[in-house]
Amino acid sequence: MTRARSKAAVVVTVAAVLAISACSSSTSTSTSTTTAAGAAATKNVQVFTWWAAGGEKAGLDGMISVFKKDCSQFNFVNAAVAGGGGDKAKTLLANNLKAGNAPSSFQAHAGGELSDYIANGQVEDITALFKEAGLDNAFPKDLVSQITVAGKVYSVPADIHRANMVWVNPAVLKKAKLDPTKAPATVKDWIADLAKLKAAGVATPLVLSKGFAEEMLLEATLLGDLGVEKFNGLYDGSTKWDGADVTAALGDFKTLVSYSNTDRETMDWDAAMSKYLMPSDPATATGGYQLMGDWVPAQLLSLKIPDSAYTYWPAPGTDGVYQWLSDSFTLPKGGTNAAGAKCWLKVVGSADGQKAFNMVKGSIPARSDATSAGYPKYQQWAMAQWKASKLAPSLAHGSAGPGAWNNDVQTAMSAFSANPDVATLQKSLVAAATKYSNWRSTLG
Ligand code: GAL
Repeated sequence: MTRARSKAAVVVTVAAVLAISACSSSTSTSTSTTTAAGAAATKNVQVFTWWAAGGEKAGLDGMISVFKKDCSQFNFVNAAVAGGGGDKAKTLLANNLKAGNAPSSFQAHAGGELSDYIANGQVEDITALFKEAGLDNAFPKDLVSQITVAGKVYSVPADIHRANMVWVNPAVLKKAKLDPTKAPATVKDWIADLAKLKAAGVATPLVLSKGFAEEMLLEATLLGDLGVEKFNGLYDGSTKWDGADVTAALGDFKTLVSYSNTDRETMDWDAAMSKYLMPSDPATATGGYQLMGDWVPAQLLSLKIPDSAYTYWPAPGTDGVYQWLSDSFTLPKGGTNAAGAKCWLKVVGSADGQKAFNMVKGSIPARSDATSAGYPKYQQWAMAQWKASKLAPSLAHGSAGPGAWNNDVQTAMSAFSANPDVATLQKSLVAAATKYSNWRSTLG
């Protein structure tokens, strides 16, 4: 979506699932045990995500509650694997798919990330299900194009998230007399405010965590410094990664990182948030800002932190741009229980499923017919922003390019964190972009 907007269910753990399959594959002398295990296996719908805790789990639980109602003939089996942005989950999933051990359905981002699974022949064409469930007209056209290849649809979108958001602790900003409701206009202005916080004795002006969070900060800096058209050009080849404007943005990125916690490589986004930005005892907060996607309000809600305790705004220089990503669900080739999986996919695409999920996930429904009534304050604002903004994709969350490109950038991120050298970073980014510049042509 590069346009300017004209635009059981019985929940069991993975361990229990493994136990079930271990049971059913063991040689049992009792026929009735085997039959019972077989019956359970055909009822089970194993859904693979990385939504294992906090606000993310709350979102999934919301969707499960609708599945329980609409698909009561099946058992929901929760195969969530913890790890922000799906770092561990995606590796495990790739191995399982290779080994012919597909779940009933798995989470994949619309766009480049989904195209990996399509190109590898690991997901089924679900065009017929889309039509049958009336989903062909339910989503924005541009989003449907991100889940379609050669006229065939491959997943059902559950949500739209926004990546270019900054979450702010007003009490910490007060120490440097900064207005927490007002976003700095540019990346440079933000850097000036970070310097003010540091001078006022704030220990970790910018809260940062490993992997995809560093990549998100990098993308937000590029988006803020280059502007939306040039930023989008980084992913369609019309903007050069070795340009002087990219070098300057990487210099800003280096400065931003220098204001962050030095233990950033040791923790995920939610742990960093609880340690520095929004600790359970607010008086101990030492973090001013954290750049993170809008799964944050859901996380804070799950921690019972009221929305009056924080403010938020689009990353400096990116106001009016929605850096979007969309979680979607697939029907894997050779997955267990295709009938049950299809029931799950219909729930994912339904108005009720999307409401139960997005209400508590921080995201907004992917369906175009959703209204903002009853949603928390953040999502009401986000729905209005979604309608009024230009769009940019996210490599960190699969909408801008394939997973392998994302992995290379994350490797460059941890190298940069250890040794923040702009020239080395730019070389790695150029190499990655060159390696994957043709990814679209691998699709039919
Ligand atoms: C994203 C995903 C979001 C959220 C986030 C943090 O990739 O799309 O829904 O889960 O990771 O884990």
